[in-house]
Amino acid sequence: MIYKGPKGTYDVYPGGREPHERPELWAWVEGVARDFMGRYNYSEVRVPVFEEAQLYVRSVGEMSDIVRKEMFVFRDKGGRELSLRPEGTAGVVRAYVEHGLYRLAQPLKLWYLGPMFRHERQQKGRYRQHVQVGAEVLGSTDPLVDVEVVALMYQIHQALGVKDEVVYLNNLGDLETRRRYVPELEAFLKKNVSELDPDSKARIETNPLRTFDSKDRNTQALLKEAPLIGYYLSEEARVHFGAVKEGLETVGVPYAVDERLVRGLDYYTLTVFEAKSAALGAQDTVGGGGRYNGLIEELGGPDLPGIGFGTGVERILLAANAPEEGHLLDVFFVTLVPEARLPAFSLAAALRAEGLSCDLDYADRSAKGQFKQADRMGARFAMIIGEEELVAGTCTLRDMTSGEQRAVPVADGPEELLEALGA
Ligand code: HAM
Repeated sequence: MIYKGPKGTYDVYPGGREPHERPELWAWVEGVARDFMGRYNYSEVRVPVFEEAQLYVRSVGEMSDIVRKEMFVFRDKGGRELSLRPEGTAGVVRAYVEHGLYRLAQPLKLWYLGPMFRHERQQKGRYRQHVQVGAEVLGSTDPLVDVEVVALMYQIHQALGVKDEVVYLNNLGDLETRRRYVPELEAFLKKNVSELDPDSKARIETNPLRTFDSKDRNTQALLKEAPLIGYYLSEEARVHFGAVKEGLETVGVPYAVDERLVRGLDYYTLTVFEAKSAALGAQDTVGGGGRYNGLIEELGGPDLPGIGFGTGVERILLAANAPEEGHLLDVFFVTLVPEARLPAFSLAAALRAEGLSCDLDYADRSAKGQFKQADRMGARFAMIIGEEELVAGTCTLRDMTSGEQRAVPVADGPEELLEALGA
């Protein structure tokens, strides 16, 4: 019996073909994300990959696709209903409320990286387990925080080489806005109900805004005539939107206002945004997020605002110019006689202690086979030790790119060798 990974998942392994299957690219993305989060002064937060299912129902929304169709829900041995996390915001806000983090100096700027689980139909860029880099800023209504969050996501994408990226921006208004707008939209949809697809019909009463997300052509054609939320924004929402746009222009994030952008999660208020890349196919949204000014209270905390983003690492890698593999190893030892193995092993230990990466042959390969292995491993140098070198107290250093060779004394320690390696 040969087992296969579950549907909608993938493995990361040496020699992986797709960019998101290549371990060195993951290390690169994680390093860049961590670096940017540090520059912007975000602290890392780690929360469980499963929570009470109701947490997601309350935050993402009962009528959202995620809750209705995509959650991995299960019962534990005590009969509690749990779900693998479909997204990161709910768990972070739960932890913020549970640990009273609103008592710390606000805003609290948090970031995370980890797997999310959605039972979706697999296609390129859509998996049942995907990884998000996310950030959440809790406890501030300052529109410059919105700008910071969008700019941070954009800069991470750019540092990773995401091609042809545009950030789409909208404002979904505050409660006052919704109170004025939603009845107008509802009335419009009811008047034209015969032209709506079944999902959109079902949403008229529960969440009419989400009809804008419909993929149905007739529905989309009808929605061209629909009233747009932009005309109904309260004064406060309008001022907030203006400040966010001005801030994005100041820091040079290219954006376009999309008045039909609504996002698939119900917790959003005011600012929402999505970054799309023209380099991707059907799944072209690389990252997205927005404000959720009612969520902390909804989850039992004080009435405090929040905003954040989540960006999918697999999509970043698909939309980026993945760098070609560089040198993955500093030194591979090539031993020409069995007596050279222990000295090589000990030299490798000395180099590792100085921070260099080294490896040697553990498969009884011929000299030719060892050079081939050095090549396969992407070694910058091969370090050759044979009878001659043992007698002379040297090793022969070969630059694997130029083929140049030279003898380096090692009898009195690795200092000269380190110098020759440029360490
Ligand atoms: P989201 O738009 O549902 O937002 O997901 C964020 C990103 O995760 C997407 O843009 C996409 O890159 C990636 N993603 C989502 N589902 C999949 C999938 N099935 N396969 C591959 N990638 C996927 C959120 O999850 C919000 N929590 C973002 C947020 C944070 N809003 C406020 N704070």
